[in-house]
Amino acid sequence: MHKRKGNGESDHRVCPLGAARMFDNPLRLLLHQPGKMLRDYVKPGSKVLDFGCGLGFFSIAMAKMVGEDGFVIAADLQDVMLQGLMKRARRAGVADRIRPHLTAPDRIGVEDQVDFAIACWVIHETPNIDGAFRELASILKPGGRLFVLEPKSHASKEEFGKLLASATAAGLSEVTRPRSAGSRAVVLERPPASP
Ligand SMILES: C[S@@+](CC[C@H](N)C(=O)[O-])C[C@H]1O[C@@H](n2cnc3c(N)ncnc32)[C@H](O)[C@@H]1O
Repeated sequence: MHKRKGNGESDHRVCPLGAARMFDNPLRLLLHQPGKMLRDYVKPGSKVLDFGCGLGFFSIAMAKMVGEDGFVIAADLQDVMLQGLMKRARRAGVADRIRPHLTAPDRIGVEDQVDFAIACWVIHETPNIDGAFRELASILKPGGRLFVLEPKSHASKEEFGKLLASATAAGLSEVTRPRSAGSRAVVLERPPASP
């Protein structure tokens, strides 16, 4: 991890390409099995968001799960991640289902609404956690789910509690806390529209 330089907007540490290359490899399947983790949320035809997608470990797996009728918005602050992700997606034959989206540090800026979003190991890197949850809540369709994972090394129990308070203040409610080795995880829901 290093300090992002240049625009002076934030001193939050953003994962560099070299680190992403190290943890986004086939051995990661020992830790995260996207098919198993996400099968209750990502279905054929789903529209999904991978916030802080990095090199696309989850984006590419989800692109396979949503099939030809769905799509994945792969959103990241760093264009170099999106370029690497799309190269991998082309190799995997799913590039046509992935829409790369470059974010600003404090604004995701996605116009579509999605059925499901994942934010894996990114929330602690965002400069404004309250704002990120507010925006994520607005991108989810009513009844949509958000799966958040944070590395234990970056989120103590107390910090994760604050993160949950921030998500709740944004109108998201807790559905379940999946077990995930090395991470703290929660699935949140935007309340369904009232009849
Ligand atoms: C530790 S990596 C995790 C990548 C991916 N989610 C995974 O599980 O392999 C964090 C990613 O979040 C991105 N990121 C950090 N801050 C962000 C922000 N404010 N908005 C969008 N992406 C951000 C970084 O560029 C990096 O690609």
